[in-house]
Amino acid sequence: MTSTELLYSDPLAAATAAAAEIAQRTGVASHDVALVMGSGWVTAADALGAPAYECDAHELTGFFAPAVEGHSGKVRSYEITEGGKTLRALVFLGRTHLYEGKGMEPVVHGVRTAVKAGCKVIILTNACGGINTSFKVGQPVLIRDHISLTAASPLSGATFVDLTDLYSKRIRTIVKSEDSSLAEGVYVHWRGPTYETPAEIAMMRTMGADLVGMSTVPEAIAAHALGAEVLGISLVTNAAAGITGEKLNHEEVIAAGKAAADRMGALLKSTIPKLI
Ligand code: HPA
Repeated sequence: MTSTELLYSDPLAAATAAAAEIAQRTGVASHDVALVMGSGWVTAADALGAPAYECDAHELTGFFAPAVEGHSGKVRSYEITEGGKTLRALVFLGRTHLYEGKGMEPVVHGVRTAVKAGCKVIILTNACGGINTSFKVGQPVLIRDHISLTAASPLSGATFVDLTDLYSKRIRTIVKSEDSSLAEGVYVHWRGPTYETPAEIAMMRTMGADLVGMSTVPEAIAAHALGAEVLGISLVTNAAAGITGEKLNHEEVIAAGKAAADRMGALLKSTIPKLI
């Protein structure tokens, strides 16, 4: 069976295999925390220092080469020492999205691999459109809750998982104690690859949404279902459709992400050791 066939036929076995490969390649039996770096967040990972190990994600069982510019598709292992504590972080640069049309399994394979590699906390970052007009471009916002407009779940069968505390309140409290200026918001998952219409954004605002993007939600559910705690951070890279009258443009989304990445990197570095 090929690695791709294994991913679709037995996704947890594929994640277990990829986790064993990571342990073998890094020489680290168990990692503690994982970060998924979305559009423009790659330079935030650089603030964590020099990685102890890096490879192309697609060298590992079940990973595909990424499709979108700005997502370099690497897996890194870092040793983070801060305040007398040392832990190991697994960092995924880039992710697979539902809009790529490969189905759900590749979208959540990274977080499943991370949990199988020992990670107890999964940090999901993304670029998003701001629906709530009090949010500025370049502002990071903690995800408090989500609305799934794709209604696509990574789970199937009679697995009735509680999502009341999906974006861990414990972790949000710790992160906000590091940076009290951080706001929280409700993230809507939009399949894409089209951005939303102005009418769709108006609907989302009425539903109680603050942020809109094309990722994170399936990964959060998959990680939580395997027992990990989840932190979601959205970087507002543009005002959502219809708010300013400007058209949405992928290059601007990437550029806004890069500009805010240094602040995000410093925040992640100081916060991570406090989460475990
Ligand atoms: N909509 C959906 N996804 C996004 C956006 C947006 O406005 N900006 C960045 N990702």
